[in-house]
Amino acid sequence: MKFFVDTADVDAIRELNELGMADGVTTNPSLIMKSGRDIREVTKEICDIVDGPVSAETVATDADGMVAEGRELATIADNIAIKVPLTWAGLKACRTLAGEGRMVNVTLCFSANQAILAAKAGAAFISPFIGRLDDINLDGMQLIADIRTIYDNFNFKTNILAASIRSANHMSEAALIGADVATAPPDVIKKMASHPLTDKGLDAFLADWEKTGQKIV
Ligand code: E4P
Repeated sequence: MKFFVDTADVDAIRELNELGMADGVTTNPSLIMKSGRDIREVTKEICDIVDGPVSAETVATDADGMVAEGRELATIADNIAIKVPLTWAGLKACRTLAGEGRMVNVTLCFSANQAILAAKAGAAFISPFIGRLDDINLDGMQLIADIRTIYDNFNFKTNILAASIRSANHMSEAALIGADVATAPPDVIKKMASHPLTDKGLDAFLADWEKTGQKIV
């Protein structure tokens, strides 16, 4: 499973990229707002850091507007994936932009039916939002599993990009189901390294080592 980093924080992206943990990046209007930076400037900087797809989101609500914004965003760098929302207009824009050979990430997906339409429209990525479904007492991870089954049934090539990931467990669950990509905030990726038995074991080893009085270097 590939890891995308769900942030517009360039320092965090750089750190994860150096560790081989940033196969791509996803941004959205809220993350750009949080960065406090100009969308073109920060997106360009991100594209220069990572080799993989960097999603930049359109904000028009009509298909023509999304296509125009998508083409503009795509001028930022070759690794831009244009993000459009899963509306009827978004599907039209996806079809047009994908037809021009551009990578399109269809976002704000909350049902298997929506995911089928995105695949038919030629999306490179479909982004089902796990956390936001869980927030309203629905099962976000089940949606990832349903889309995996449907895409495999019909050999759809669209990549399942598990999004709105809120916990380290979401990452391993998405990997078990077979999501192609999971996008998570940097702190969630870092939390994947934590285990209380690792901390306890390390404390014990270090205490015993201290008693030996030895040094390695
Ligand atoms: C995905 O592309 C979105 O940017 C993101 O995962 C949304 O996550 P949130 O529901 O935590 O805002």
